[in-house]
Amino acid sequence: MSYEITTIPGDGIGPEVVDATLPLFEEVAGNHGVEIEFTRYDWGSDRYLEEGTMMPEDGLDRIEGSDAILLGAVGHPEVPDHVTLHGLLLPIRKEFNQQVCERPSILFDGVESPLKGYEGGDVDFVVFRENTEGEYADVGGREHIGFDHEIAVQSSVFTRQGTEAILRAAFEAAEEREGHLTSITKSNAQAYSMVFWDDVVEEVREDYPDVEVESLLVDAASMDFIRRPEEFDVVVASNLFGDILTDIGAIVTGSMGLAPSGNVNRSGEYPSMFEPVHGSAPDITGQGVANPIATVLSGAMLFENVGEEEVSADLWSAVRELLADESAPTPPDLGGSAGTEEMVAALSDRL
Ligand code: NAD
Ligand code: IPM
Ligand code: MN
Repeated sequence: MSYEITTIPGDGIGPEVVDATLPLFEEVAGNHGVEIEFTRYDWGSDRYLEEGTMMPEDGLDRIEGSDAILLGAVGHPEVPDHVTLHGLLLPIRKEFNQQVCERPSILFDGVESPLKGYEGGDVDFVVFRENTEGEYADVGGREHIGFDHEIAVQSSVFTRQGTEAILRAAFEAAEEREGHLTSITKSNAQAYSMVFWDDVVEEVREDYPDVEVESLLVDAASMDFIRRPEEFDVVVASNLFGDILTDIGAIVTGSMGLAPSGNVNRSGEYPSMFEPVHGSAPDITGQGVANPIATVLSGAMLFENVGEEEVSADLWSAVRELLADESAPTPPDLGGSAGTEEMVAALSDRL
């Protein structure tokens, strides 16, 4: 088989982790007779600073036909975040109808959690984050700017179709995993959107009788992600809550540098996009020390999504072996001093 993969390295450490990992993906694909053709798009904040747009006007048309997208990160200290994100990352998720964001949190053997008493294997859950609407619907406005009666409105939009789509994806995953689903809301304070969410959970769960459903308020859930992360299996949440919870999930399982994600278009009409959960990390940009594992695992999710399960499994195994090996190079975010390239080379040795 052969695949056309769009790569958008983006800003900051994005190009560092994406460009370093492409040869690894080519190598592992080659081992299975799978061909991949990467097309790299130099879209991002540097382009914005030079030309005024993050991507060309027909950007989405250009990449619509690819089999999948691998993105690094978007965000630049000299450009407002809402400009960069609304100019590149968020339109891809939205226009390509990538409604289901899947973010696994796994505490690997050999990785130290900041949580006392936890060791490899103790934490293994996946967050299903609604990815195209909710609090990110981009509906609202700002009036009377600079006056005392200035007002800013940011509305959330929860559609039945979108809510059902993320819930069904999560229930299906729970059926395949441990059969436990935690639904996150804030229905004590948000009497429309979140009560609606709870109602749709009650309807949809009828179709998944073997799944045990737990409902948690997001504030308590944030605490429980730290107090008892081992008890979660599949977690489902709105766009904003899912965003916040997955940073907690990343750090309790060791580091932002390990957390992968997939933005999945379930109909197959558009490509899905895979990217590390982390951002452009301006604090370490240019030092060559960004941990590439989040990107490698995002690649593993990409290969699984296009149907190359063996390629995907090899990448997961290489990461597991490397992290479990006490004598292997370790990047600074995990307490060592190995750079990005050294980490990729060590993974390549384990393929
Ligand atoms: P961040 O994820 O970029 O960084 C948070 C912390 O984690 C930093 O200390 C950083 O050094 C560390 N970190 C992140 N990735 C790492 C890696 N691979 N290896 C080692 N350490 C790593 O979050 P932030 O600082 O809040 O955001 C920086 C910029 O990125 C902002 O412009 C933000 O909007 C953007 N952002 C983009 C995405 C995305 O493109 N998907 C995601 C999150 C943030
Ligand atoms: C993420 C990021 C993005 C999000 C930002 C950069 C818009 O934090 O992918 O987790 O909130 O979705
Ligand atoms: Mn985030």
